[in-house]
Amino acid sequence: MPTTPAQLQALTVAARKAAGRAYAPYSKFKVGAAILTPAGKIYSGCNVENASYGLCNCAERSAIFGAISNGERRLKIACVVVFTPTDSPTAPCGACRQVIYEFGPTARVISTCRSRARLDHAITDLLPNAFGPDNLI
Ligand code: THU
Repeated sequence: MPTTPAQLQALTVAARKAAGRAYAPYSKFKVGAAILTPAGKIYSGCNVENASYGLCNCAERSAIFGAISNGERRLKIACVVVFTPTDSPTAPCGACRQVIYEFGPTARVISTCRSRARLDHAITDLLPNAFGPDNLI
């Protein structure tokens, strides 16, 4: 089902609010993300860093793991919106692309920022020939 303009607006607001909650004392790079469930519910998340740098968790994965942790048993992501308080938009990292694909093989991924610039791609364009649940026997 296509994401409506009102849902896109709500996702963008949620992603921006989540960026404000980021814990990013090391990179100072605050990221927020919001995802839409089939029932129209929105889950958001922010990046959470750690003094042990390799343990940093991205905003996109925080949002997805939050949805699952809160009981979304049949999560199918229609759309992900990412927000960074920067002049140009930030596309999800490779690890997040893989996790988005797991729950949203047809998801639309939109990156927004404080300017009007934005990226808008299908996850299959960001992660071509993806490995996913259907590859397993
Ligand atoms: N980060 C995200 O949260 N999402 C992205 O799509 C790119 C990177 C975070 C991870 C780390 O906390 C900081 O940005 C710098 O890499």
